[in-house]
Amino acid sequence: HGTSKINDNGHLEIGGCDTVELAKKFGTPLYVMDEALIRRRCREFVEAFRHSGLRFQVAYASKAFSVMAMCRIVEEEGMSLDVVSDGELYTALQAGFPAERIHFHGNNKTPYELEMAVDAKIGCFVVDNFVELHMLNAIAAEKKQKVNILLRITPGVDAHTHEYISTGQTDSKFGFDLENGSAMQAVKEASDLSHLILLGVHSHIGSQIFEVGGFRLAVDKVTDFALKVRQELDVTFSVINLGGGFGIRYVEGDTPLPVAEYVKAITDAVRGNFGNHAYPLPEIWIEPGRSIVGDAGTTLYTVGTYKDIPGVRKYVAVDGGMTDNPRPALYEAQYEAMLANRAHDPNEEVVSIAGKCCESGDMLIWDVNLPKVRTGDLLAVACTGAYNYAMASNYNRIRRPAVVFVKDGQADVVVKRETFEYLVGNDVVPERMKQVT
Ligand code: LLP
Repeated sequence: HGTSKINDNGHLEIGGCDTVELAKKFGTPLYVMDEALIRRRCREFVEAFRHSGLRFQVAYASKAFSVMAMCRIVEEEGMSLDVVSDGELYTALQAGFPAERIHFHGNNKTPYELEMAVDAKIGCFVVDNFVELHMLNAIAAEKKQKVNILLRITPGVDAHTHEYISTGQTDSKFGFDLENGSAMQAVKEASDLSHLILLGVHSHIGSQIFEVGGFRLAVDKVTDFALKVRQELDVTFSVINLGGGFGIRYVEGDTPLPVAEYVKAITDAVRGNFGNHAYPLPEIWIEPGRSIVGDAGTTLYTVGTYKDIPGVRKYVAVDGGMTDNPRPALYEAQYEAMLANRAHDPNEEVVSIAGKCCESGDMLIWDVNLPKVRTGDLLAVACTGAYNYAMASNYNRIRRPAVVFVKDGQADVVVKRETFEYLVGNDVVPERMKQVT
């Protein structure tokens, strides 16, 4: 997919760059991001909304992959940006991302984070709970500012079940509950707080979703709520945010819909529902993360050791693992891989890909068909663009890999490989331990 292909040398090529050359030049493990594919995904969302004729904002959920170069792309593509911490906000501001297009999420924004965001004059706070509602109002008042807010509601839609079970969702750490009246109470209080401008509501039903039914149901719930709010409090929402969660294809068997279909389902539902009730059509915001960067990422590893347990399994170990991709260990996430340096070799075997961390759970892929691997081979794991670098750690004091963007035969480092100095950079040895006895 994207700009990937097998070149005449039988090597995997991405963005016009031979991955064998990339590995030589930048070392492994290496995150390689197909810039053209990222931009294509951005444009698919924006185009689909343009087509709908509704007013909209597509806010990239930067938690999926937050680095300054990515913020630049999102800016250039005319999108908004969703941040969930002072660190993500700082990254965006450092990258020169326009503050008025930044939305701030999170169930426990600290006073420091709220102040930082109010000072930066960001576009919108997605307020999660009553404590935050009043804290934000007080901070805005102190700084003599008025800030835009959305209220995050839990719509009672479980996107991960086929039945869209509407119970159980009350038991979530996020948002104001629709069923028990706390969402209505929040609208009431928000309207009375003088330094908050209530734009509307936000709902996020889950992640890696393959169907449109959950989104339709969420729009139904939000519509019902908007009508109730108009009737009871005479408050009209100008913005409805439906969150992210659009699925991607990691392995065969994953069946995501084209981006345009998710967007169409949402915009059709909004148009239909609100139109039916003579409600001014709200602006629609969404927050895709995974579907913007997920399939654009490929991780390159060098094969090191291997171990054959006859009749049981062959373990092939690579020079990374759960430190650069914790998703298999955390979520039993599945990935596909290929040999990037011998893509056409027909002499295949079934192996399992192990990481180099000191724990048995550090497995990247179980039972994958690959050409017979040898030490020094280059392994490419696909679809690692989302929640990989973002969730990487220094466990075992392993240095985080570099990230390169590739496009039209050019490779640019957007995150440098960590150094040993970086690893010990924050370590402090107390004076008393330095004494030689
Ligand atoms: N908006 C909100 C409020 C969210 O909580 C999330 C993701 C998104 C948008 C973006 O969702 P996406 O389009 O990327 O599915 N670490 C997990 C995923 C956690 C998602 C958390 N919230 C993983 O690696 O699968």
